[in-house]
Amino acid sequence: MSKGIALTGIKPSGTPHIGNYLGMIRPALELAKKYQALYFIADYHALTTVKDQETLKRLTYDVAATWLALGLDPDKVILYRQSDIPEVMELTWILSCFTSKGLLNRAHAYKAAVDENMAIGLSPDEGINSGLFFYPALMAADILLFDTDFVPVGLDQKQHIEISRDIAQSINSNYGEILTLPEAVIREEVMTIPGVDGRKMSKSYDNVIPMFAPANQLRKSVMRIVTDSRRPEEPKDPETDNVFTVYKHFAQPDDVERVRNGYLQGGLAYSQIKNELYELLEDKFADPRQQYEQLMQDWGYLDQVLFQGAEKARKTSVPKIAKIRKAIGID
Ligand code: TRP
Repeated sequence: MSKGIALTGIKPSGTPHIGNYLGMIRPALELAKKYQALYFIADYHALTTVKDQETLKRLTYDVAATWLALGLDPDKVILYRQSDIPEVMELTWILSCFTSKGLLNRAHAYKAAVDENMAIGLSPDEGINSGLFFYPALMAADILLFDTDFVPVGLDQKQHIEISRDIAQSINSNYGEILTLPEAVIREEVMTIPGVDGRKMSKSYDNVIPMFAPANQLRKSVMRIVTDSRRPEEPKDPETDNVFTVYKHFAQPDDVERVRNGYLQGGLAYSQIKNELYELLEDKFADPRQQYEQLMQDWGYLDQVLFQGAEKARKTSVPKIAKIRKAIGID
């Protein structure tokens, strides 16, 4: 039986936090059990915003070290760097010739940038690079090059997968069925992990609980989580509380039930449950943190892992691009 193919792209954009872990990393790692899994670091996507060479490099290794530290096994899955696969670039151009400009005009990242300009009276395309505009076409190439069946992503990326399908369809209707239509896999239950201020956990809100920070810093972030001012003896609502919302994703089912009842009945202080949460996180991330730190000291090793991954990936991408070139009449 051949397994379906699941592919995940990770844009290197800062040291991951536990919101990334729950929303993206953990579900993506689980997919490897069911599918043939490909993971890549989308460094060319990052180039749309990261213009400093040292930063781009460090962020790229940061992603590799994070995923390896959290248990990604490069012998079982394929982990590579997007820029090590030249076929991606070639396919991007081919796809762009089948991508209506109007479709890209409506892509949300570009549209948001335009709307922002207009709101403050600037010309629509002020400061917007064409890389941002073509972002969805590059993403479609990432996906379609590997005959991807499933793409696990956050809700913010759903439109990009739809665009990829549209592009694949227009290629297929012109040349016959040469591209596989991908499907987005979106995990509703882990979509919005609250940050310490209760808004969605995000670097841009400065409200994250870092995954690999030293224990004392981790503790500090957990203690900063906002709650209402109910006293320990008062009943509390677990479903609206930020501490519980994070806690339930890490604790064992029995503990989740015990704490849920403690909230409903009263007698449980927020500080107590924060302590429990801290201990769970420390327990979970202490070893990966150490491994992450070691890996970040050894970029040579990370390069080796990524090159080996690229070699494996190119076993698919090289024949695939040959087939596509033949189909379009360039071979
Ligand atoms: N755009 C994605 C993000 O910002 C990253 C990405 C690039 C991606 N190429 C992809 C995700 C292909 C899934 C499939 O997170």
